[in-house]
Amino acid sequence: MLKSYGRKTVLSIAGATVTCLVVLLVIAQHQRVEVDGMQNEREIGLRSLQSLREQGTDYVAGQDTTVSRSPGNGESEIKKGFSAYFSKLTRGRREAEKPTLSVSAATNAAPVEDITADDIFIAVKTTKKFHKSRLDLLLDTWISRNMKQTYIFTDGEDEELKKKIGSHAINTNCSAAHSRQALSCKMAVEYDKFIESGKKWFCHVDDDNYVNVRSLVKLLSNYPHTQDMYIGKPSLDRPIEATERLGDNKMRPVNFWFATGGAGFCVSRGLALKMSPWASGGHFMNTAEKIRLPDDCTIGYIIESVLGVPLTRSNLFHSHLENLQQVSRAELHKQVTLSYGMFENKRNIISMKGAFPIEEDPSRFKSVHCLFYPDTPWCPPQVAY
Ligand SMILES: *[C@@H]1O[C@H](CO)[C@@H](O)[C@H](O)[C@H]1NC(C)=O
Repeated sequence: MLKSYGRKTVLSIAGATVTCLVVLLVIAQHQRVEVDGMQNEREIGLRSLQSLREQGTDYVAGQDTTVSRSPGNGESEIKKGFSAYFSKLTRGRREAEKPTLSVSAATNAAPVEDITADDIFIAVKTTKKFHKSRLDLLLDTWISRNMKQTYIFTDGEDEELKKKIGSHAINTNCSAAHSRQALSCKMAVEYDKFIESGKKWFCHVDDDNYVNVRSLVKLLSNYPHTQDMYIGKPSLDRPIEATERLGDNKMRPVNFWFATGGAGFCVSRGLALKMSPWASGGHFMNTAEKIRLPDDCTIGYIIESVLGVPLTRSNLFHSHLENLQQVSRAELHKQVTLSYGMFENKRNIISMKGAFPIEEDPSRFKSVHCLFYPDTPWCPPQVAY
C-alpha cells in the first residue's frame, strides 16, 4: 500500500519534472534572446512566448520568424537560464503572494467612483474559425449576463452570431491570419469603437477568457476613469526591450511594461483619449509597425513609453500562459478574468470540482458560471461545490 503510493508519487514527480523542463527550455531560449539584445532575436523570444500562447490553437504563425540563432554556448546558457529562471520564479511567487498594493489598499476603502457594468466597454477579440468552438461557450456563460457591455471583434460575417448579439458582433474586415498586422488591425477597430461608445472604461479580452464582470466593476470603481489608468498583468517578469524606428533609418532602444492581452487589460477613458494620436484611425497600425511588436505590446508602448503612464498590476487577471491550477478556489469569486488552454497535451485549467465533470466542461467555464450565477436555467440545482 505504502509502497505503491510511494511509486505513484515518484512517477508524478517525474512527470512534473519533465513538464517543467519543457517549460524552462522555452523560457531559457527566451532569456537568451534577451541577453543577445538584438531586435530580431527578441522577436524570436516573443514568438516563442506567442507560440506558447497559441498552444493547441493552430493559429497561423507570424511573418517574422525566420531568424537564425547565434551558435555556441547553447547548453551552458540554457543552464544559466535555468538557475536565473528559478530565482526569478521564486521572486515572482513572492511578488504574487504579496497582494498588489494599489489594488488591495483601495479595495477596503469606499469606491472612488460608483460605476456599473454599463460604464465598461468589453471587447472580445476572436476569429471566425473560433465562433463555434470558443465564442459559443462565452455567449452561453458570462456574455449572456453582459450582452449590453460586450462587443465581439471578429474577421468574418456570421449570421448566427448576429442573431445572438446583433450589432455588437463587429466584423473588423481585418485579415483572419494570426499575424502581427492582423492583430493590430483588430485592436485599432476595438479602440475606435470604444471611443465612439462614450463609455468610461475600455477592457480587452481574448476568446478564451471568462470575465467576472461583478469583480471587474469592483476593481475599476477603485479608480477615477478620468485619470490615466492602465490595469492588467504583465506576462514577462521584466520590461520588454524593443527598437523604435524613428524614420531616416534612425533607431532607438525602448523598454516598457505591457499587460498581456491574453489575460485581459483595461484602460480608462482619460488615458484612451490621450492615446488618440498613436491609436485612432490608422495610427495604431503605424505605431505597431514602428516597433514591430504584437498588439498588446503596442498598447504598452503607447501608454508607458510614449505617454509615460505606468502599468498598474493586478493579479486578478489570468491568461493560459500561467499555471491556472494556482488560482485559489477560495478566491475564485474575486478574480476578474480566467482562461484555459493546453500545454504539452496537458490541460491548463483552474482547479475546481464544479457542477460539471471535466468531459462536459473541459474549460471549467460552465462550472465557474454556475458558481457565480446559480440561477442560470441550465445549471444543476442546489449544487454545493
Ligand atoms: C467592414 O466592411 C463592411 C462592408 O463593406 C462595412 O459595412 C463595415 O462597416 C466594415 N467594418 C468596419 C469595422 O469598418
